[in-house]
Amino acid sequence: MSNKHVTLNFPDSNQSVELPIITGSMGPPTFDLKTLHKNSGYFTYDSGFAATAACRSAITFIDGGKGVLLYRGYPIEQLAQNSNFVETSYLLLNGELPTKDQYDSFDTEIRYHTMVHEKMKMLMSGFQYDAHPMAMMVGVVGSFAAFYHDWMDMSDPEHRRLAAVRLIAKMPTIAASVYKNSVGQPFVYPRNDLNFTERLLHMMYAVPSEPYEPNPVAAKALDLLFMLHADHEQNASTSTVRLVGSTGANPFACVSAGIASLWGPAHGGANEAVLNMLDEIGDVSNCDKYVAKAKDKSDKFRLMGFGHRVYKNFDPRATIIRKACHEVLNELGVNDPQLELAMKLEEIALKDPYFVEKKLYPNVDFYSGIIYKALGIPKQMFTVMFAIARTVGWVSQWLEQYETADTRIGRPRQVYTGPTTRDYKDFSDR
Ligand code: ACO
Repeated sequence: MSNKHVTLNFPDSNQSVELPIITGSMGPPTFDLKTLHKNSGYFTYDSGFAATAACRSAITFIDGGKGVLLYRGYPIEQLAQNSNFVETSYLLLNGELPTKDQYDSFDTEIRYHTMVHEKMKMLMSGFQYDAHPMAMMVGVVGSFAAFYHDWMDMSDPEHRRLAAVRLIAKMPTIAASVYKNSVGQPFVYPRNDLNFTERLLHMMYAVPSEPYEPNPVAAKALDLLFMLHADHEQNASTSTVRLVGSTGANPFACVSAGIASLWGPAHGGANEAVLNMLDEIGDVSNCDKYVAKAKDKSDKFRLMGFGHRVYKNFDPRATIIRKACHEVLNELGVNDPQLELAMKLEEIALKDPYFVEKKLYPNVDFYSGIIYKALGIPKQMFTVMFAIARTVGWVSQWLEQYETADTRIGRPRQVYTGPTTRDYKDFSDR
């Protein structure tokens, strides 16, 4: 913390308040409002947290203006090129890249915790076959708090770490079971000789009646997508996990809340929404019409997969995925007219003054859906894939929150706009 401060002057009372400036290792300076209300009687209003830092974090850094994304200081482009999802998970959780021995033991630990309680099958059987997979994920992951609660002492760092590892390891097993439930096939147990994404593909697509070997191109593509989605600092779902976590709730309950938050089309649900939108647009010849709809303020239609709260230049993940999208479709021999449609839409929107002036660029979800589709993953499972990857970010942030000295229960204030004080009336007087 520096000795600098800002001074806020309050015209009504001729009063002023000094607020200390906090500087992180990178990023804009921030002034600390903690004492503002006590010393001035004022609150601040920042709907949607457009300019409010809710925590200190050493995990992920974004410079939205420059299109920079760093995990623990490492550029996402370098990780995408050289790392894999398990190593990236270790990095996010522990702060440093692992040595070979640390990597091997973390990888083994993840493999060891992939099984889930047999009773999960009974839970699953309670859902209709057509239940949305994200609805099932919210329910099933939340219910795991019941399996892993009494043993857990949140003040014990080893218990917290084990909860984090369990969540990362079990999430693909739960996700694949959700998928199997929706297609009416038997659940497939995790094959721990396979790597993280091969194991997921095996649990999703293997059937007892015939052999199945995961396609390495598909597994590698998934691994890349998972790395790119692993964390994104204080986005809506991560902030949800932190808010729930700040109450001391069970980590499975916190992550279940994060999944619920991720589901919305303005957040992780956008990858499913992008494909729905491409279906609706149907043909390249309709692009202009839909771009016009997106610009029309009286029309609720938005170009899904475009725009980002933080990135106002480009989303570095989208740049990586755009390239990967072409490569994966080529390698798998998939010729998808929706990719052509997406490219045309991107081309029109990037030249259109409305999108240029508002700095609306394709985000990570604009292309991820097309890759998932090429891998044979059904639309409704796209956000589930995102949840598997983001679990690493959620648990890393949850652990960090526990270990940060000034963490308090999250409790926003409000600007009250309801009726002023009034007296209760009997029915006869209303
Ligand atoms: N299509 C058309 N117009 C848009 C779009 C879009 N996709 N996104 C933003 N705008 C316009 C808004 O209408 C607004 O215009 P105005 O200033 O004239 O009122 C302006 O751009 C700013 O938009 P906001 O909604 O205020 O920006 P905000 O930061 O609150 O929202 C968000 C960001 C939610 C991502 C938004 O751009 C959006 O809805 N995009 C489509 C959904 C999407 O792709 N979400 C995925 C985000 S990435 C992720 O979660 C992994």
